[in-house]
Amino acid sequence: MTGASGNVGSALVALLGADAVAAYRDPAKTARALESGQPAVTLDLAKPETLPPALAGVDAVFLLGAMSPAQTGQELAMLDAARTAGARVVKLSVWRAGEELSPIARLHKPVEEALRATGLAWTILRPNFYQQNFLAQRSIRTAGEFGFPAITAPISFLDAADVARVAAAVLTTAGHDSRVYDLTGPAALTYAEAADVFSAVLGRPVRYRGLSDEQARAALLGRGVPEFHADALVEVARAYRDGGADSVTTTVADLTGRPATELAEFVRRHRTVFG
Ligand SMILES: NC(=O)c1ccc[n+]([C@@H]2O[C@H](COP(=O)([O-])OP(=O)(O)OC[C@H]3O[C@@H](n4cnc5c(N)ncnc54)[C@H](OP(=O)(O)O)[C@@H]3O)[C@@H](O)[C@H]2O)c1
Repeated sequence: MTGASGNVGSALVALLGADAVAAYRDPAKTARALESGQPAVTLDLAKPETLPPALAGVDAVFLLGAMSPAQTGQELAMLDAARTAGARVVKLSVWRAGEELSPIARLHKPVEEALRATGLAWTILRPNFYQQNFLAQRSIRTAGEFGFPAITAPISFLDAADVARVAAAVLTTAGHDSRVYDLTGPAALTYAEAADVFSAVLGRPVRYRGLSDEQARAALLGRGVPEFHADALVEVARAYRDGGADSVTTTVADLTGRPATELAEFVRRHRTVFG
């Protein structure tokens, strides 16, 4: 299971426990996991030689790549290793990847296509924007506001933990081969409506500041986000500014038996971060 230290991966490790091998890039994280009794390996997607040993004895791969210009190539290398191992692949992709509306979708689409052509059993998960993206907005705590590249249309944000619950269901139950699952939260909210949710839960005013593309890029670079990543996030916002990320699916509830997490619940759960 790749990306074990990330948004979805850490929740998936918690759900699957000893039934999964958690793959970390950082050997210190692998060592800590092993000490706690969690099966774990060190795997660096940028080092193809680390992939085959990590897949020894594995019958299913959860493939999650991190955003960079190298992401597509790294995930394709992982597909080669999965083919050699004969492992089923559950690929974490992105909302509307097939339409290439955003640079992030363009990173994922070639991997989706290659996966379908491998002859391996596969499932593709296409989540919309994560609620976790709010966690990096320190200004919610310090200034009662958050700023994203302006999107005026609603977005059906979802909890990455719900993506993990879907992944766990797909990895541990039958009937998911050759399926593409579009994953969303339970409702679509504008950023202004999301700010109202934060205000209600935190009991103090939180407002949304829509940033121009230039302001957003500068803010992201100022937070240390790499240039490619910052440009991609601005372009994603442009793609969905007037709609397109607002449909709501029931896939999380259908596959896990529990509804997707409301934004209010997410804010309550992470209250110590938001202050
Ligand atoms: N954020 C969203 O709203 C969203 C929505 C839909 C889809 N996605 C997709 O989800 C994926 C992950 O995005 P995220 O924002 O949620 O990040 P994340 O999973 O929280 O973080 C990236 C993970 O990848 C690992 N990683 C980075 N470079 C690696 C390498 N060379 N080899 C092995 N592992 C490596 C990181 O490990 P370290 O701890 O070692 O850095 C971390 O566990 C992306 O493909 C993105 O397109 C994101």
